[in-house]
Amino acid sequence: MHYLLTGASSGIGRAFLELLLKQAAATPASSAAAYTAASTPAEAPAAAPAEDPAVAPSAGVAPPNLSLTVLSRSASKLHEVQTLCAPYPCRGLCLDLTQPELIEPQLTELLATAPPVDRVVYCAGMTRIEAVTKLRYAQNLAMMNLSYLSLVELLRVLIAHKSVEHQTKVVVVSALAATTGAEHTVSYSTAKQALETFVRHGAPELLAENVWINALAPSYVDTPMLKFNRLIDRNFATNVRKIQPLGLLSPQAVAHELAALLESTCCTGTIRYVNGGMRY
Ligand SMILES: NC(=O)c1ccc[n+]([C@@H]2O[C@H](COP(=O)([O-])OP(=O)(O)OC[C@H]3O[C@@H](n4cnc5c(N)ncnc54)[C@H](OP(=O)(O)O)[C@@H]3O)[C@@H](O)[C@H]2O)c1
Repeated sequence: MHYLLTGASSGIGRAFLELLLKQAAATPASSAAAYTAASTPAEAPAAAPAEDPAVAPSAGVAPPNLSLTVLSRSASKLHEVQTLCAPYPCRGLCLDLTQPELIEPQLTELLATAPPVDRVVYCAGMTRIEAVTKLRYAQNLAMMNLSYLSLVELLRVLIAHKSVEHQTKVVVVSALAATTGAEHTVSYSTAKQALETFVRHGAPELLAENVWINALAPSYVDTPMLKFNRLIDRNFATNVRKIQPLGLLSPQAVAHELAALLESTCCTGTIRYVNGGMRY
């Protein structure tokens, strides 16, 4: 199973990656051993060719089922994630998703030698806390690119490189704020709303390509993304209960919701609200 992950270096995306690795490690040792014993290079499609420099060290015994491609802006974070993923084959792509025009050349090169992508988790995101009247075009464009346009571009390139027989399931991480709004985050909520509209209305066309897509829309989650909220309110974790009675959600709990949505056999084109009790 080949996963393509964005945002895996931190917060919710990192928690999802750790869950994935835990599940893979829980694969019975007997099946891993059987794989090792039976494997010839031709029988081990998940393992990348040793000479491929984009693939992190894959020493040790890995069950045959997991291979990864991870995207990050930072080479050092990418390296850290690839190290965490060992012994599973893990390709890295150093890419800033505020620049969708870079996706096609770089991803095309990677896909040429990678197994087909089975699962995509588009978790990359940033917030911007700014009054509407202070928002600059360039900032809005970066937000729109990261939250929405890069996802569309990434899917276009993936679809061009897969056969229609191959099923790919996608979960994008939106935000409950796309629906509820929040003060001084219009740029963020507008871009997430665009993402959700794409998911709801693009899903039937994507399904014709055998691509399933759903969005997860959490309320406040305890990740580095909330550092500004904590800065302006030292009691943020307590005060958030006034609007989110279940309190700050843990990234691990949200990762479980994500994993379930990713494997859903019942829906495509939906938004799964993970609201922590918040009214919306
Ligand atoms: N935390 C919350 O309260 C909350 C609530 C609702 C929705 N969300 C959504 O959940 C998702 C994950 O957020 P998080 O809370 O886990 O935040 P986080 O800990 O700050 O992680 C953000 C991730 O996005 C990646 N990223 C940011 N800008 C990028 C860019 N220009 N290009 C490529 N990757 C980029 C970062 O990767 P690198 O630094 O490695 O590039 C990082 O892995 C986001 O889409 C966010 O909008 C969060």
